[in-house]
Amino acid sequence: MANGNVLLLCGSPRLEGNTAQVLRECAKVLESEGLKTETVLLAETRILSCTACGLCKSGECALDDGLNEIIAKIREADGFIVGTPVYFGTARGDVMAALQRIGMVSMASDNFLSRKVGGPIAVARRGGHTATIQELLMFYLINDMIVPGSTYWNMVFGHAPGEALNDEEGMRTVRRFAGNVAFLIKRLR
Ligand SMILES: Cc1cc2nc3c(=O)[nH]c(=O)nc-3n(C[C@H](O)[C@H](O)[C@H](O)COP(=O)(O)O)c2cc1C
Repeated sequence: MANGNVLLLCGSPRLEGNTAQVLRECAKVLESEGLKTETVLLAETRILSCTACGLCKSGECALDDGLNEIIAKIREADGFIVGTPVYFGTARGDVMAALQRIGMVSMASDNFLSRKVGGPIAVARRGGHTATIQELLMFYLINDMIVPGSTYWNMVFGHAPGEALNDEEGMRTVRRFAGNVAFLIKRLR
């Protein structure tokens, strides 16, 4: 793909939840900029936590729960955006379990995450967005990735599925963020 491609990871267990709908809007922006996108839904897998077995030097995780298929897609992507619902003021557990294993495989093998462009998006009913964004940024920044900003932090308010799309400022922020991901990827290629 001439303009590059972006993998979007949706961390919600709700297939049509707010996070999925917010990421769909990001994908539309990226595609309007000529990038190819694919969205992976963690709702379709059960993600195990890292067991510190140390076998990830091969470039794959030893746990057999479908994460290696996601890692293979990230490897091929220029961009990696992670959207998560906020649970008790932090990211959903499965999201951090996935990111910790993805990061460990990258570090233990060929640093495939290095210089990929992306960032986190947090979706919640009322509170915990900024702590969640900070939590996910720890993954991006230790893995040599490039995170563009936006006109606010990537946080969207919503509870019942679909409500997030009514958060006009939140949606404007994440659309701008997606536009900045596209902007950077196109210039870096
Ligand atoms: C276990 C659990 C914990 C939650 N904790 C918070 C929270 O700390 N702050 C908040 O504002 N909303 C919280 N929520 C609400 C969700 O973040 C909110 O409904 C969000 O829209 C879910 O995203 P989704 O539709 O993509 O799954 C929680 C929901 C669940 C199921």
